[in-house]
Amino acid sequence: MVTRRRVLGGAIAATGGTLITGGALFPLVAARSAEAAPAAPAAPVAVPAPFTVKMPRLAELSPVSTWGGQDTYAVTIKEVDREIIPGTQTKVLTFNGQFPGPVLRARSGRKVVVRHRNTHSMPVSIHLHGANVPPEEDGGPMDTFGPGTTRTYTYLNEQSNAALWFHDHAHHMESEHVFRGLSATYLLSDDTERALGLPSGQYEVPIALRDARFDEAGQLVYVMGDAFERTTILANGKPTPYFEVAARKYRFRLQNSSNQRFFQLRLADGGEMIQIGSDGGLLESPFPTNSIGLSSGERADVVIDFSRYPVGTQIVLENTLGPGSPDQVGKVLRFDVVRTATDASRVPARLGVLPAVASLPAPAVQRTIVMSVDEDGRQDPRGFLDGQVWDADRIDQTVAFGTSEVWTVTNANKFVPHNFHMHLVQFRVLERNGAPVAPGEAGLKDTVRLMPGETVKLHATFNTYKGTYVYHCHMLDHSAMGMMANFRVR
Ligand code: C2O
Ligand code: CU
Repeated sequence: MVTRRRVLGGAIAATGGTLITGGALFPLVAARSAEAAPAAPAAPVAVPAPFTVKMPRLAELSPVSTWGGQDTYAVTIKEVDREIIPGTQTKVLTFNGQFPGPVLRARSGRKVVVRHRNTHSMPVSIHLHGANVPPEEDGGPMDTFGPGTTRTYTYLNEQSNAALWFHDHAHHMESEHVFRGLSATYLLSDDTERALGLPSGQYEVPIALRDARFDEAGQLVYVMGDAFERTTILANGKPTPYFEVAARKYRFRLQNSSNQRFFQLRLADGGEMIQIGSDGGLLESPFPTNSIGLSSGERADVVIDFSRYPVGTQIVLENTLGPGSPDQVGKVLRFDVVRTATDASRVPARLGVLPAVASLPAPAVQRTIVMSVDEDGRQDPRGFLDGQVWDADRIDQTVAFGTSEVWTVTNANKFVPHNFHMHLVQFRVLERNGAPVAPGEAGLKDTVRLMPGETVKLHATFNTYKGTYVYHCHMLDHSAMGMMANFRVR
């Protein structure tokens, strides 16, 4: 395995077009020369130039059975070799051999059963992020299943349309396992969503974004906390790829499955993107914007109308946040408009129905949560919630079943960003730094970003299941450093 505790996770700075360059440059090397002597040691593997690799569509998982009112899936967790860099096989940890993980499509109210067989050498625990599930189906940090064993999770899908995802959560290994590939997409749909007429079929494209670090042999290098070294951006598992589109509307289901990287996405021409959903489902109404932020673990449902571009146009999706220089991390993928197409899809003015913030149930309890990591540069940084490192046996908050609460969460660090994720619930973000949040954050959320010094106020209702769940920073290197706590609903 790997050195598990090194530096703390990358401070992020930047915006306004300038990015912070942090740490050593990624060892980009020149492409292999044709004249190289045959006896010379193998040339270091180079990440290809941007936009030379095509972005694939994610594989879709097919059920092994749809019998008995439920969809049953069989998943094998296994290490395989996959081509991320052209011509090089990279060892990755996968669900069913897919890198990134496949898409599981579920429907509200219809049961899904997933049987995971663990052929990896370490225990894992598979958490369905954003799902309303009883504790025994939650995939908590200690609820692991070991090498050679099988574990079945049952999901009743008792919530509205949502952009969920699943990933390993085995405590202290989740960060490395997810980095090596153990994350996948779970799109929950419902009748409301289907009736809207949004772009669908080949025009609905899930995109898993993340960063990665490779060594000179083209293998993934995981070192806890080294966000500054993870400067290769992958979209659906390929480095800064291109994606061919028709001149019409597309719906992109964006998911940031990076361990630590935050993205701030824009089209190079400043063109409009229409955000229609966030973590927990569709927004109340479409939100036209030219910049979309995604911290680790967050999702955004975005429509882009390429009909405004002539065929032949190439538009880069850029990232304006570090760590890493614009050369390294400033480009995410390129949309190439290669043909025209008819378009009967629409983006209705009203998408979902969410209770107004003012009409949410009054909180029975208000709590404050303080997030921090050691940021003094020590070798062995710890992560804290309210000054404490996670203890599996300690209940940090006890919530009365059936009540609503307001949690005021602060990032006490000066340089290090965090985000805040709760299991079990989708919450509403009432305020950011005392002000109402932008429309993109006003829907159902399970993960919310907290830049250094920021405070958010969240409203959650705990009326579905009793039991113990975790809340944590979703920069997984940080949660592995202890930035996690338990709440118990009873
Ligand atoms: Cu996606 Cu507890 O995490
Ligand atoms: Cu954090």
